[in-house]
Amino acid sequence: MTSPRLYSGMQPSADSLQIGNYIGALLQWRDLQSTHDAFFSVVDLHALTQPNEAAELRDKTRRTAAQYIAAGIEPEKSTLYVQSHVRAHAELAWILNTITGFGEAGRMTQFKDKSARYGSDATSVGLFAYPVLMAADILLYQTNVVPVGDDQRQHIELTRDLAERFNSRYGTTFTIPEAMVQKETARIYDLQNPTSKMSKSSESQAGVLWLLDDPAVNRKKIMRAVTDDEGSVRFDRETKPGVSNLLTIHSALSGRSIAELEDEFAGSGYGDFKKAIAELVLSEFEPVRARALELLDDPAELDRILSLNAEKADTVADATLSDVYDRVGL
Ligand code: ADP
Ligand code: NA
Repeated sequence: MTSPRLYSGMQPSADSLQIGNYIGALLQWRDLQSTHDAFFSVVDLHALTQPNEAAELRDKTRRTAAQYIAAGIEPEKSTLYVQSHVRAHAELAWILNTITGFGEAGRMTQFKDKSARYGSDATSVGLFAYPVLMAADILLYQTNVVPVGDDQRQHIELTRDLAERFNSRYGTTFTIPEAMVQKETARIYDLQNPTSKMSKSSESQAGVLWLLDDPAVNRKKIMRAVTDDEGSVRFDRETKPGVSNLLTIHSALSGRSIAELEDEFAGSGYGDFKKAIAELVLSEFEPVRARALELLDDPAELDRILSLNAEKADTVADATLSDVYDRVGL
């Protein structure tokens, strides 16, 4: 029995990942590696859709890879590589572009939101074609499952449509992937603005917990997290988003249910509750941060790992791409 093939990735869009990436993606990836043949990519080609200095992008890419490993993605077990090291991504994306409708790509809500914000002159064709590159990422590996956040559901639908279209036009070439949508309980919100998702690109620094930040800074941010005036530790996303978010973080890291935590903290003030969250987050982050910094201190070793894994990815991707070239007449 071969295990199902899994593909996921993250953009190297900051020096550090934030706790939402850790809880919503890395912790799940770590578990999924034992049941799946997993490919985890640092998607640097996607990151080019944002302005970047070359040296900065290269650095963010290595830092992101180091954090994958530090969080428990095992490069001997899973295939952990940098997207641009495997040329087939850009090549397959071009071919898929030729079977994607202009209107179809224009209906992607993420594109519509971003292009409305940037205006048409500042919106690149790369941003427009971003979901097609993502389809190529997934289809190259004959992927069965793609763990994603809810906001990526539409992109997976497009990927499936493109795979089906290609298969029916040229003969069966691609596996049709399924989305594995992250549990709502794994979604983490900004500490200062607890109704919006925490993000690497959040504007408020005070609301984001960075995996690689100084522990004292993270402790302070948790102690200053927005709550409410009620003074009781109770989960209610509507009326108590700040407290609910802290409960979610606790539950995700401790593995205990929200109900158990509400019992434990019944009668505690928010100060004590936050202290407990801070202890938990700091002790979770500490070994991950230490390991990531150690990996970043030995660039030759990190490069060796990434290059070995890129070779593994390349072998699989190249087999699919050769088949595609053959079928379309290249
Ligand atoms: P960011 O918004 O931090 O740049 P990405 O869009 O690059 O994050 O997403 C990378 C991965 O992290 C995805 O799997 C996404 O679902 C997950 N993720 C990002 N932010 C959060 C969050 N606040 N809560 C849970 N998961 C998140
Ligand atoms: Na590997």
